[in-house]
Amino acid sequence: MKKALRHPLIVAQFPRLLHGSDYNPDQWLTWKDGKDSAHIWQEDIRLAKLAGLNSLTVGNLAWAAMEPAEGEYRFEWLDEVMDILAKNNMTAVLCTPSGARPAWMSQKYPEVLRVNDARIRILHGQRHNHCPSSPVYREKVTAINSRLAERYKDHPALGLWHISNEYTGECHVPQCHCPLCQERFRNYLKKRYGTLEALNGAWWTFFWSHTYTDWSQIESPSTRGEMSVHGLNLEWKRFTTEQFVDFYLLEIAPLKKITPLIPCTTNFMGTYPGLDYFRLAEVLDVVSWDNYPAWKNTEEDIATGSRISFLHDLNRSLKGKPFMMMESSPSATNWQPVAKLRRPGVHMLQSLQAVAHGSDTVQYFQFRKGRGAFEKFHGAVVDHEGTENTRVFRDVADVGKRLAKLDGIAGTATPVSAALVFDWNVRWALDDAKGFLQERTGYEETVINHYRAFWRQGVSVDIIDSTKSLDGYELLVAPMLYMLRPGFAERIESFVKAGGVFAATYITGYVNENDLCFQGGFPGPLAETLGIWCEEIDSLYPGDSNAFLWNDKRFKVFDFCELIHLRGAEALAAYTGDFYAGRPALTVNCFGKGKAYFIAARTEQDFLNDFYASLVKELRIPRALNVELPEGVTAQIRSDGITNYVFVMNFTPKAHIINSGMGTKELAPWEVWIYEETRS
Ligand code: GLA
Ligand code: ZN
Repeated sequence: MKKALRHPLIVAQFPRLLHGSDYNPDQWLTWKDGKDSAHIWQEDIRLAKLAGLNSLTVGNLAWAAMEPAEGEYRFEWLDEVMDILAKNNMTAVLCTPSGARPAWMSQKYPEVLRVNDARIRILHGQRHNHCPSSPVYREKVTAINSRLAERYKDHPALGLWHISNEYTGECHVPQCHCPLCQERFRNYLKKRYGTLEALNGAWWTFFWSHTYTDWSQIESPSTRGEMSVHGLNLEWKRFTTEQFVDFYLLEIAPLKKITPLIPCTTNFMGTYPGLDYFRLAEVLDVVSWDNYPAWKNTEEDIATGSRISFLHDLNRSLKGKPFMMMESSPSATNWQPVAKLRRPGVHMLQSLQAVAHGSDTVQYFQFRKGRGAFEKFHGAVVDHEGTENTRVFRDVADVGKRLAKLDGIAGTATPVSAALVFDWNVRWALDDAKGFLQERTGYEETVINHYRAFWRQGVSVDIIDSTKSLDGYELLVAPMLYMLRPGFAERIESFVKAGGVFAATYITGYVNENDLCFQGGFPGPLAETLGIWCEEIDSLYPGDSNAFLWNDKRFKVFDFCELIHLRGAEALAAYTGDFYAGRPALTVNCFGKGKAYFIAARTEQDFLNDFYASLVKELRIPRALNVELPEGVTAQIRSDGITNYVFVMNFTPKAHIINSGMGTKELAPWEVWIYEETRS
């Protein structure tokens, strides 16, 4: 079990759970509807306090207001806002503005704009789309960040630096493929491979005559050019992550120098495929992420709820400590296909769910709805109507009141005994693989389905990648671990030998870190630990299925059926149909002091639920609440080792009765029940 303890507070001088919001006073600088901007800011603070907010995130995407013309800095408005925050005992999450550029900059220095994969330079507009290599952009960012740090270094409101906004890799908007980025890519490859021979070998460029004979021939992947060398595609994604690690380090350099005690973060986007967040998290002081679930207010919220819990656990696990929910919508989210209103109770549930899984903050986008452009209909604490007399405002104020009573939770840990592997490198390689099912490989979905089997039992889980330590865990689950990154198989082997229980599935141990297939049979270096050899994999058409019997129950399997041989493991179940009827479908290998299970086919949720429930029971993995929970209800714990804060959350539109050691409690639809217990 990982130890329960108290972590340092995110903002040292602020012993509270942060309740805050993105706040853009900069959008109201030239507001002329009969009131001046100072007036609206005063009103904003009155409303913010009424809503129980104790923090505001300022300066995000506000470069044009900070530097309206080249070298002409205007911080007076920000001074005023920071002063208002300090006067009202609120803490500022202060943003560096690099997430969007002023028009003058794109016009004068087109090199700051990205070149897309078709090698066309984009036009000015949108956001999150600068070239991370551009010397001019880097210089401008350093200049403005230094000024911000100098100006606010002693300001009592300064709590935390929020670096840029939602850095983007090769996803949603294209990554930069300009000549400068290409050059950096080649340098990165030279460092990684040393020689061209090593690179050609690692990428198997001998096929289709793709062999490189000079470094200068290497180009980033492009729909107009090279897309078929998987090693290249993979390295481009890794390199893109390194580009943003580097850019982040550039951004924080002046901040660390001038304000060394102020923590820095940048906001992540869940399992966003464009950047490896495990890598990026290494350079952050605290992890933060933006949470926008599409609640339907129906039974479907059970799936959404477990998925969001997974994302919170992932963000907690990135650095193994409390994180920040930097953004969430207080009501509808404008960019989703259906901007459905939350039913009463759902906003409270969404907010406390984050805290239950390790967030020390509940923060929103946005405070006040802007009057125009893209986000004018995005949910906000204050609507266009402009007062506190709205349902959403009251919802937010209710969260504020409840959080204020939970300040003792800030800094508490999440005690866990089980870890689930979710690895960006595995996902990149699997998504690129040609074979199997192409469109239905479903790596992320599969990992989340395995997660759900724990969630429904109220078992806390860490989400780790192949680089993380396995110390302290009793159970390790790694669905579809297609790629074995260096050393991971060996660490899993030691983990099992020492008494750990490991569960793996179909499509495990096919390739090494360069996406080269293992020779000598799959699951490659995990063959001995699992005690099996996978000879073939059958990919099924939609509607096709097979089955196996386990614990006197019949379980349907579909999509993938691996045809495996026992090499020391014991079969616990066999396929019932097709030419491979009788061949093992579920195995266990007793190995050292531990056990390694292998699930050879894709099953439905019912099997995962039963299977992991039996492991949790056998291993006596602690559950937040030791009773059978109704479907759609989960329980999670935060603890400092002495006091447990137990959160019981109902993700269904129905009421449920919970019988626990604390008595009988009726949970209303979407209700969250929190109680404290002293750890025995
Ligand atoms: C992102 C951004 C915010 C805002 C929200 C809207 O998370 O970081 O600036 O645009 O989306 O949902
Ligand atoms: Zn570039």
